[in-house]
Amino acid sequence: MAIPRSREAQEQFDRVAPGFFSSPLSYFETHGAGLVSAAGVKSGDRVLDLACGAGSASIPAASIVGRSGKLVGIDISRGMLDVAARRARTEGFHWAEFHQRPVEELDLEERFDVALCGFAVHHFDDQTTVPRVMARHLEPGGRWAFSLWAEGSSEPHRTVFNRLIRELRPDLAAAPGRSGPQGRAAIERLAHESGLSTRAIELAEVDHVLDNFDDYWHYVKTSGGRSLLTRVSEDEAQRIRDGLQAAIAPHLDSQGRLTLCMDALYVTGLR
Ligand SMILES: C[S@@+](CC[C@H](N)C(=O)[O-])C[C@H]1O[C@@H](n2cnc3c(N)ncnc32)[C@H](O)[C@@H]1O
Repeated sequence: MAIPRSREAQEQFDRVAPGFFSSPLSYFETHGAGLVSAAGVKSGDRVLDLACGAGSASIPAASIVGRSGKLVGIDISRGMLDVAARRARTEGFHWAEFHQRPVEELDLEERFDVALCGFAVHHFDDQTTVPRVMARHLEPGGRWAFSLWAEGSSEPHRTVFNRLIRELRPDLAAAPGRSGPQGRAAIERLAHESGLSTRAIELAEVDHVLDNFDDYWHYVKTSGGRSLLTRVSEDEAQRIRDGLQAAIAPHLDSQGRLTLCMDALYVTGLR
Protein backbone atom coordinates (compact mmCIF):
# COMPACT_ATOMS: atom_id res chain seq x y z
CA MET A 1 0.00 0.00 0.00
CA ALA A 2 1.32 3.48 -0.85
CA ILE A 3 2.38 5.61 2.11
CA PRO A 4 0.03 8.61 2.43
CA ARG A 5 1.80 11.74 1.30
CA SER A 6 1.26 13.51 4.63
CA ARG A 7 2.93 10.65 6.56
CA GLU A 8 5.80 10.58 4.10
CA ALA A 9 6.24 14.36 4.56
CA GLN A 10 6.09 14.00 8.34
CA GLU A 11 8.81 11.31 8.38
CA GLN A 12 10.99 13.20 5.94
CA PHE A 13 10.76 16.54 7.73
CA ASP A 14 11.13 15.04 11.21
CA ARG A 15 14.39 13.52 9.98
CA VAL A 16 15.80 16.77 8.56
CA ALA A 17 14.35 19.15 11.19
CA PRO A 18 17.51 19.40 13.38
CA GLY A 19 19.51 20.67 10.38
CA PHE A 20 16.84 22.84 8.75
CA PHE A 21 17.37 26.17 10.54
CA SER A 22 21.00 26.49 9.48
CA SER A 23 23.16 28.72 7.33
CA PRO A 24 23.29 26.35 4.29
CA LEU A 25 19.47 26.66 4.18
CA SER A 26 19.25 30.35 5.12
CA TYR A 27 17.41 31.13 1.86
CA PHE A 28 14.27 29.87 3.63
CA GLU A 29 14.76 32.69 6.17
CA THR A 30 15.30 35.25 3.40
CA HIS A 31 12.13 34.15 1.62
CA GLY A 32 10.15 33.84 4.88
CA ALA A 33 10.82 37.50 5.67
CA GLY A 34 10.12 38.40 2.02
CA LEU A 35 6.76 36.62 2.08
CA VAL A 36 5.71 38.38 5.30
CA SER A 37 6.58 41.71 3.72
CA ALA A 38 4.75 40.85 0.46
CA ALA A 39 1.63 39.95 2.48
CA GLY A 40 1.73 43.33 4.23
CA VAL A 41 1.65 41.88 7.76
CA LYS A 42 1.24 44.67 10.32
CA SER A 43 1.10 45.24 14.04
CA GLY A 44 -1.97 43.65 15.68
CA ASP A 45 -2.70 41.23 12.78
CA ARG A 46 -3.85 37.67 13.47
CA VAL A 47 -1.67 35.53 11.16
CA LEU A 48 -1.99 31.86 10.20
CA ASP A 49 1.13 30.18 8.74
CA LEU A 50 0.32 26.88 6.99
CA ALA A 51 3.10 24.25 6.82
CA CYS A 52 5.17 26.71 8.85
CA GLY A 53 8.21 24.43 9.14
CA ALA A 54 10.99 25.79 11.34
CA GLY A 55 9.35 29.23 11.39
CA SER A 56 11.01 31.13 8.53
CA ALA A 57 7.82 33.18 8.00
CA SER A 58 6.25 32.64 11.45
CA ILE A 59 9.10 34.27 13.36
CA PRO A 60 9.26 37.54 11.34
CA ALA A 61 5.43 37.64 11.29
CA ALA A 62 5.27 37.20 15.08
CA SER A 63 7.85 39.95 15.47
CA ILE A 64 5.72 42.39 13.45
CA VAL A 65 2.26 41.55 14.86
CA GLY A 66 3.51 41.99 18.43
CA ARG A 67 1.61 41.30 21.63
CA SER A 68 -1.62 42.85 20.30
CA GLY A 69 -1.61 40.32 17.44
CA LYS A 70 -1.44 36.56 17.12
CA LEU A 71 0.55 34.01 15.16
CA VAL A 72 -0.60 30.42 14.67
CA GLY A 73 1.81 28.04 12.91
CA ILE A 74 0.57 24.68 11.62
CA ASP A 75 2.75 21.81 10.44
CA ILE A 76 2.66 18.03 10.25
CA SER A 77 6.22 17.57 11.52
CA ARG A 78 6.75 17.65 15.28
CA GLY A 79 10.49 18.15 14.70
CA MET A 80 9.99 21.26 12.55
CA LEU A 81 7.42 22.68 15.01
CA ASP A 82 9.78 22.16 17.94
CA VAL A 83 12.39 24.32 16.18
CA ALA A 84 9.82 27.05 15.40
CA ALA A 85 8.43 27.02 18.96
CA ARG A 86 11.92 27.18 20.47
CA ARG A 87 12.76 30.20 18.30
CA ALA A 88 9.54 31.96 19.35
CA ARG A 89 10.25 31.24 23.03
CA THR A 90 13.82 32.57 22.71
CA GLU A 91 12.44 35.81 21.21
CA GLY A 92 9.76 36.09 23.94
CA PHE A 93 6.90 35.92 21.38
CA HIS A 94 4.28 34.46 23.74
CA TRP A 95 1.55 35.42 21.23
CA ALA A 96 2.90 32.74 18.85
CA GLU A 97 1.53 29.19 19.06
CA PHE A 98 2.33 26.09 17.01
CA HIS A 99 0.16 23.03 16.39
CA GLN A 100 0.85 19.67 14.82
CA ARG A 101 -1.93 19.09 12.26
CA PRO A 102 -2.20 17.99 8.62
CA VAL A 103 -3.13 21.15 6.69
CA GLU A 104 -5.67 19.27 4.57
CA GLU A 105 -7.87 18.60 7.61
CA LEU A 106 -7.51 21.99 9.24
CA ASP A 107 -10.58 23.75 10.57
CA LEU A 108 -9.70 25.98 13.51
CA GLU A 109 -13.15 27.61 13.63
CA GLU A 110 -11.33 30.91 13.86
CA ARG A 111 -10.69 33.69 11.32
CA PHE A 112 -7.41 35.45 10.57
CA ASP A 113 -6.35 38.73 8.94
CA VAL A 114 -3.48 37.11 7.03
CA ALA A 115 -2.70 33.56 5.84
CA LEU A 116 0.80 32.54 4.72
CA CYS A 117 2.36 29.41 3.24
CA GLY A 118 6.02 29.08 2.27
CA PHE A 119 7.00 26.45 -0.32
CA ALA A 120 4.37 23.84 0.52
CA VAL A 121 1.58 24.17 -2.07
CA HIS A 122 3.25 21.35 -4.04
CA HIS A 123 3.26 18.97 -1.06
CA PHE A 124 -0.40 18.11 -1.66
CA ASP A 125 -1.88 15.85 -4.36
CA ASP A 126 -4.68 18.39 -4.70
CA GLN A 127 -2.90 21.71 -5.15
CA THR A 128 -6.01 23.67 -4.21
CA THR A 129 -5.53 22.37 -0.62
CA VAL A 130 -3.51 25.33 0.67
CA PRO A 131 -5.58 28.10 -0.99
CA ARG A 132 -8.84 26.39 0.09
CA VAL A 133 -7.68 26.12 3.70
CA MET A 134 -6.56 29.77 3.52
CA ALA A 135 -10.01 30.82 2.23
CA ARG A 136 -11.70 28.87 5.07
CA HIS A 137 -9.68 30.71 7.73
CA LEU A 138 -9.52 34.27 6.37
CA GLU A 139 -11.80 37.17 7.24
CA PRO A 140 -13.55 38.59 4.15
CA GLY A 141 -10.96 40.91 2.59
CA GLY A 142 -8.17 39.08 4.46
CA ARG A 143 -4.71 39.00 2.87
CA TRP A 144 -2.87 35.86 1.81
CA ALA A 145 0.54 35.04 0.37
CA PHE A 146 2.24 31.83 -0.67
CA SER A 147 5.66 31.20 -2.21
CA LEU A 148 6.65 28.81 -4.98
CA TRP A 149 10.04 27.99 -6.42
CA ALA A 150 10.63 29.96 -9.62
CA GLU A 151 11.84 28.46 -12.88
CA GLY A 152 15.61 27.92 -12.73
CA SER A 153 15.72 27.62 -8.96
CA SER A 154 18.20 25.15 -7.41
CA GLU A 155 20.51 25.47 -10.43
CA PRO A 156 23.21 24.44 -11.08
CA HIS A 157 22.59 21.77 -8.41
CA ARG A 158 19.40 20.40 -10.00
CA THR A 159 20.99 19.61 -13.40
CA VAL A 160 24.19 18.16 -11.92
CA PHE A 161 22.33 16.04 -9.35
CA ASN A 162 19.76 14.71 -11.85
CA ARG A 163 22.52 13.74 -14.32
CA LEU A 164 24.41 11.87 -11.58
CA ILE A 165 21.31 10.00 -10.40
CA ARG A 166 20.52 9.00 -13.99
CA GLU A 167 23.99 7.41 -14.14
CA LEU A 168 23.98 5.78 -10.68
CA ARG A 169 20.31 4.90 -10.16
CA PRO A 170 18.30 5.30 -13.37
CA ASP A 171 15.28 3.67 -11.65
CA LEU A 172 15.09 6.58 -9.18
CA ALA A 173 15.76 9.22 -11.84
CA ALA A 174 12.56 8.09 -13.56
CA ALA A 175 10.43 8.89 -10.47
CA PRO A 176 8.29 11.97 -11.13
CA GLY A 177 9.33 15.06 -9.19
CA ARG A 178 6.90 17.33 -7.37
CA SER A 179 6.44 20.82 -8.60
CA GLY A 180 3.92 23.54 -7.93
CA PRO A 181 1.54 25.12 -10.47
CA GLN A 182 3.46 26.31 -13.53
CA GLY A 183 2.81 29.71 -15.09
CA ARG A 184 0.81 32.78 -14.16
CA ALA A 185 -2.51 31.50 -15.56
CA ALA A 186 -2.31 28.20 -13.64
CA ILE A 187 -1.46 30.02 -10.39
CA GLU A 188 -4.33 32.48 -10.78
CA ARG A 189 -6.73 29.64 -11.64
CA LEU A 190 -5.68 27.75 -8.52
CA ALA A 191 -6.43 30.74 -6.29
CA HIS A 192 -9.66 31.55 -8.08
CA GLU A 193 -10.98 27.94 -7.81
CA SER A 194 -10.37 28.19 -4.07
CA GLY A 195 -12.34 31.41 -3.60
CA LEU A 196 -9.35 33.77 -3.51
CA SER A 197 -8.43 36.64 -5.82
CA THR A 198 -4.82 37.17 -6.88
CA ARG A 199 -3.29 40.64 -6.53
CA ALA A 200 0.33 40.07 -7.61
CA ILE A 201 2.88 37.44 -8.60
CA GLU A 202 6.29 38.82 -7.83
CA LEU A 203 9.71 37.34 -8.64
CA ALA A 204 12.10 37.40 -5.65
CA GLU A 205 15.67 36.79 -6.81
CA VAL A 206 18.05 35.19 -4.32
CA ASP A 207 21.60 34.02 -5.04
CA HIS A 208 22.54 31.69 -2.22
CA VAL A 209 26.24 31.11 -1.55
CA LEU A 210 27.44 27.83 -0.05
CA ASP A 211 30.94 28.26 1.34
CA ASN A 212 32.31 24.74 0.86
CA PHE A 213 31.38 21.19 -0.12
CA ASP A 214 30.24 20.25 3.42
CA ASP A 215 27.66 23.06 3.30
CA TYR A 216 26.59 21.93 -0.16
CA TRP A 217 26.16 18.32 1.04
CA HIS A 218 24.15 19.60 4.01
CA TYR A 219 21.88 21.42 1.54
CA VAL A 220 21.56 18.23 -0.60
CA LYS A 221 20.64 16.00 2.37
CA THR A 222 18.27 18.48 3.96
CA SER A 223 16.64 20.09 0.95
CA GLY A 224 17.81 19.63 -2.67
CA GLY A 225 18.08 15.80 -2.58
CA ARG A 226 16.15 15.07 0.62
CA SER A 227 13.43 12.92 -0.84
CA LEU A 228 15.66 10.87 -3.14
CA LEU A 229 18.28 10.17 -0.47
CA THR A 230 15.66 8.44 1.70
CA ARG A 231 15.40 5.78 -1.01
CA VAL A 232 19.07 4.76 -1.20
CA SER A 233 21.35 2.79 1.12
CA GLU A 234 24.12 4.44 3.14
CA ASP A 235 26.70 3.05 0.70
CA GLU A 236 24.84 4.52 -2.24
CA ALA A 237 24.47 7.87 -0.48
CA GLN A 238 28.23 7.87 -0.03
CA ARG A 239 28.72 7.13 -3.76
CA ILE A 240 26.33 9.97 -4.62
CA ARG A 241 28.26 12.28 -2.29
CA ASP A 242 31.60 11.35 -3.92
CA GLY A 243 30.16 11.66 -7.43
CA LEU A 244 28.62 15.02 -6.61
CA GLN A 245 31.88 16.39 -5.27
CA ALA A 246 33.53 15.73 -8.66
CA ALA A 247 30.53 16.80 -10.76
CA ILE A 248 29.94 20.12 -9.02
CA ALA A 249 33.64 21.15 -9.15
CA PRO A 250 33.37 23.05 -12.50
CA HIS A 251 30.71 25.29 -10.91
CA LEU A 252 32.79 26.42 -7.91
CA ASP A 253 34.45 29.83 -7.79
CA SER A 254 38.17 30.30 -7.10
CA GLN A 255 37.50 30.07 -3.34
CA GLY A 256 35.55 26.82 -3.63
CA ARG A 257 32.13 28.46 -3.17
CA LEU A 258 28.97 27.43 -4.99
CA THR A 259 26.24 29.94 -5.81
CA LEU A 260 22.76 28.48 -6.11
CA CYS A 261 19.85 30.27 -7.75
CA MET A 262 17.08 30.25 -5.16
CA ASP A 263 14.58 32.50 -6.92
CA ALA A 264 10.97 32.30 -5.78
CA LEU A 265 7.57 33.66 -6.71
CA TYR A 266 5.51 35.42 -4.06
CA VAL A 267 1.84 35.10 -4.90
CA THR A 268 -0.42 37.48 -2.98
CA GLY A 269 -4.07 38.43 -2.92
CA LEU A 270 -7.28 38.91 -0.98
CA ARG A 271 -10.11 36.68 0.09
C1 LIG B 1 9.84 23.03 2.38
S1 LIG B 1 9.20 23.06 4.02
C2 LIG B 1 8.76 24.79 4.15
C3 LIG B 1 8.64 25.24 5.57
C4 LIG B 1 8.33 26.72 5.76
N1 LIG B 1 7.01 27.04 5.26
C5 LIG B 1 9.37 27.60 5.10
O1 LIG B 1 9.07 28.23 4.08
O2 LIG B 1 10.52 27.59 5.60
C6 LIG B 1 7.60 22.29 3.83
C7 LIG B 1 6.86 22.07 5.14
O3 LIG B 1 5.57 21.53 4.83
C8 LIG B 1 5.22 20.64 5.88
N2 LIG B 1 4.14 19.76 5.39
C9 LIG B 1 4.21 18.89 4.36
N3 LIG B 1 3.03 18.25 4.21
C10 LIG B 1 2.20 18.74 5.18
C11 LIG B 1 0.85 18.49 5.55
N4 LIG B 1 0.12 17.60 4.89
N5 LIG B 1 0.31 19.20 6.58
C12 LIG B 1 1.06 20.10 7.27
N6 LIG B 1 2.36 20.37 6.98
C13 LIG B 1 2.92 19.70 5.94
C14 LIG B 1 6.53 19.93 6.19
O4 LIG B 1 6.51 19.29 7.44
C15 LIG B 1 7.52 21.09 6.10
O5 LIG B 1 7.72 21.69 7.36
